[in-house]
Amino acid sequence: MASDEQIGLFNLSESSTPASFDPDTIPTSAKVPIPPGTYDSMEQMSVHCNVCQRCELAAGRTHAVIGRGSVTAPIMLVGEGPGQFEDESGIPFVGKSGQLLDKILESVRLTENDVFICNVVKCRPPDNRNPSIQEAEACNGYLREQIRMVDPKIILLTGAVAMRTLLGIREGITKVRGQWYEREGRFYMPIFHPAYLLRNPSREKGSPKWLMWQDVQSVRTKLDEIQTAAS
Ligand code: URA
Repeated sequence: MASDEQIGLFNLSESSTPASFDPDTIPTSAKVPIPPGTYDSMEQMSVHCNVCQRCELAAGRTHAVIGRGSVTAPIMLVGEGPGQFEDESGIPFVGKSGQLLDKILESVRLTENDVFICNVVKCRPPDNRNPSIQEAEACNGYLREQIRMVDPKIILLTGAVAMRTLLGIREGITKVRGQWYEREGRFYMPIFHPAYLLRNPSREKGSPKWLMWQDVQSVRTKLDEIQTAAS
């Protein structure tokens, strides 16, 4: 298939459903753009992600992992990539990191109605390594579509990969976590990855867990401010 023919793959109409999807029209090249407005829903995007061949992560995929939570949430949380349990279930952050993440969010009364959770790459990197820059770029169109569809006011970037992909920041996460970055009307905050907190269980003042607690409180405050201003 010529790569310019593939562009047509993404022109799914309102009526396109997974059932009508043509499995031969697989997005085979990372060079084929995914223009804004390509997808009408996460379900539609999921069909492509599950047959996507834009990068080598496709080879190890059991399920593409699209997202969980509300698709109208005011907050989006972006992780790195699926691990084993996520690949098996097709749901992001269901392992130990995910359980801790849910507790952290609950500690400031944030539920699945408030947060849509997804990843930079939709397919599991082998041995849970970080996604490469090329893999993140190949998947970037899907992530951009998710941001467009959810239209969150706040985007939390868990870990350096998400921070690099969406803000282009290459600093260490320790240096920039907890800071707000305003871009195109959205507020972004880099935060520690929950896997890092699992490896650093101390809750003492100044520890990663303590810092995370400061950060999620700041997120709660920002959300309250945004919602008050809108009401
Ligand atoms: N770590 C991530 O970054 N994402 C997941 O979905 C699970 C673990």
